[in-house]
Amino acid sequence: MKVRVGVVGLGRVSSLHLAAYAAMPHDVTVAAVSDADPARAASVADAYGAHAVRFDEMLADPSIDAIEILVPSPSQPEMALAAIRSGKHVTVQKPLAGDLATAEALVVAAEASSRKFRVFENTLNAPSWLLAEQLIHDGTIGRPLSISMRWTNSLLPRGWDVPADAWAWRHRGAWAEQFAAPALFDDSAHMLSPAIALFGEVGDVVALTGRQRVGEHVTGFPYAIAWHHVDGGQATVDGTLCEDLEVLTEQYASDTSLSITGSAGVLWINTGEGRVAERPTVEVASGGVLRAFDVDHRWSTAWHVAQQEWIAAIRDDSPFRWTGRQALAVLRGSLKIDAAVRAAQLRRAT
Ligand SMILES: NC(=O)c1ccc[n+]([C@@H]2O[C@H](COP(=O)([O-])OP(=O)(O)OC[C@H]3O[C@@H](n4cnc5c(N)ncnc54)[C@H](O)[C@@H]3O)[C@@H](O)[C@H]2O)c1
Repeated sequence: MKVRVGVVGLGRVSSLHLAAYAAMPHDVTVAAVSDADPARAASVADAYGAHAVRFDEMLADPSIDAIEILVPSPSQPEMALAAIRSGKHVTVQKPLAGDLATAEALVVAAEASSRKFRVFENTLNAPSWLLAEQLIHDGTIGRPLSISMRWTNSLLPRGWDVPADAWAWRHRGAWAEQFAAPALFDDSAHMLSPAIALFGEVGDVVALTGRQRVGEHVTGFPYAIAWHHVDGGQATVDGTLCEDLEVLTEQYASDTSLSITGSAGVLWINTGEGRVAERPTVEVASGGVLRAFDVDHRWSTAWHVAQQEWIAAIRDDSPFRWTGRQALAVLRGSLKIDAAVRAAQLRRAT
């Protein structure tokens, strides 16, 4: 059986979701698409042989099995709830919501439904992460103790042309104003998901924020965040903004690489959204020996893996990442990071 999907929200990131479905023509049909901008909807419908419809029409169409929601975060909870209530399988984006009560209501509604509910997660579906998990499972680095992430953003115009409206809802208005650092809140799910996959629930978080000036603006860069996990394990994030750093990327101009220290070795994932130079995707040092692995480093590949996993889950009831409950743990961590950043900003101001 081919799964018939409706996709709502056809902005910047939708190209990755749609391309991944298009690469599975025997398994998925993108039957309907919808966007607040009718011209955008018509053009995507044309490209994918789908119907451009209103969101309520998509929900009411009995031939559609699953809804993929790719709208701006502020609109997501209400639309996700409507999609769950329509009786379809639903996949949404991080963050689940801007506050825990709204997110919990969504997860409870999803659990009451007989259909699947997924929170899309690319970091853990990247081939580099899947290899890292295997190496850790095999005992290559011993017992994982800490994860360290470098969040290096470049101002050079590389990779995607991100339209101004895709930044506007993240940085301005009522949604953004509820957070100490709205852009970091948006990114933090990607920092937390590997840490939570390794160590579970986030405990205490501390942060330092900087005052790097870019043109007229004073930013919060460079920043440093660190946290413990409730059951052991710790994480650190080093966030920087670089005016002239070359980043090899097809999407965002950021190098989001990480390393994991274990009781008997160290593992590096040398690429995330992009990378500062060609390097082996994964390296692991143990017993005084360095091994390198050139697994597929492209950020887009994680979308292919995740969409295959999602369609298999709908058809075969197989596991997928993240469930609503796992995404709630990520959101709890994101809110703790935001509170720690607010405390750091207050410290600097006094
Ligand atoms: N996993 C990741 O790494 C990742 C990366 C980027 C974005 N995202 C998530 O994907 C979602 C979309 O992000 P984006 O960067 O593509 O944003 P975007 O602003 O580029 O696109 C959003 C689209 O939704 C449309 N839209 C807005 N309100 C709508 C409504 N009520 N009904 C129908 N369409 C509506 C807009 O016209 C636009 O085309 C967000 O939830 C974001 O957090 C995830």
